[in-house]
Amino acid sequence: MWYCGPSEKDYNNMKFDGAYPSGFLKNWKIAFADYIPSDPKKIIHVCAGRVPKSEGVTLDIDIKYDPDYLCNAETMRYGSLLEGERQVPSDEFDWAIADPPYNDEASEKYYNKKLLNKSMMIKQMARIVRTGGFVAILDQTMPQGKPSNLECVARIGVTSVPNLDVRVLTIFQKI
Ligand SMILES: C[S@@+](CC[C@H](N)C(=O)[O-])C[C@H]1O[C@@H](n2cnc3c(N)ncnc32)[C@H](O)[C@@H]1O
Repeated sequence: MWYCGPSEKDYNNMKFDGAYPSGFLKNWKIAFADYIPSDPKKIIHVCAGRVPKSEGVTLDIDIKYDPDYLCNAETMRYGSLLEGERQVPSDEFDWAIADPPYNDEASEKYYNKKLLNKSMMIKQMARIVRTGGFVAILDQTMPQGKPSNLECVARIGVTSVPNLDVRVLTIFQKI
């Protein structure tokens, strides 16, 4: 179990609902130090919100976070019909780590979006990491079903003080 602090604030130092609890990314980097690449370009943050670009490549559906990939995590297709539509490249990253909205209510309330299909997101995450790479999802529930080329290697409880709400970080390795 990782004990983290309250959610990190947004750019304007305001409460940002759904943000990673403070210390979460630090815990992740310490726990998986032997497996996390030194090149942040080999890490992609899916449903990144305001995760800083220094942490890696970012993907989000909302333009206000200025993500590297502005797209739906269900398809990972970006660009326009005019300029040509493309897809986030396959077998590109060592890690894909996601912090999706947790449920219908949170998705509508905080992001004004229908809750994404998490199985589709995980399938895309499995596509974009290299064999031997990792797919990690922080959520309120454990992922239901997974592509056959993912093997679960860790499940870690994540709580934030003082609320003590519990989430689970599930980590798969692509085989
Ligand atoms: C829980 S927040 C992530 C916050 C992030 N961990 C942080 O610390 O800033 C969920 C994010 O998922 C994004 N999102 C919601 N639906 C999405 C979708 N279908 N595809 C990609 N991103 C999506 C939202 O815009 C929001 O930034």
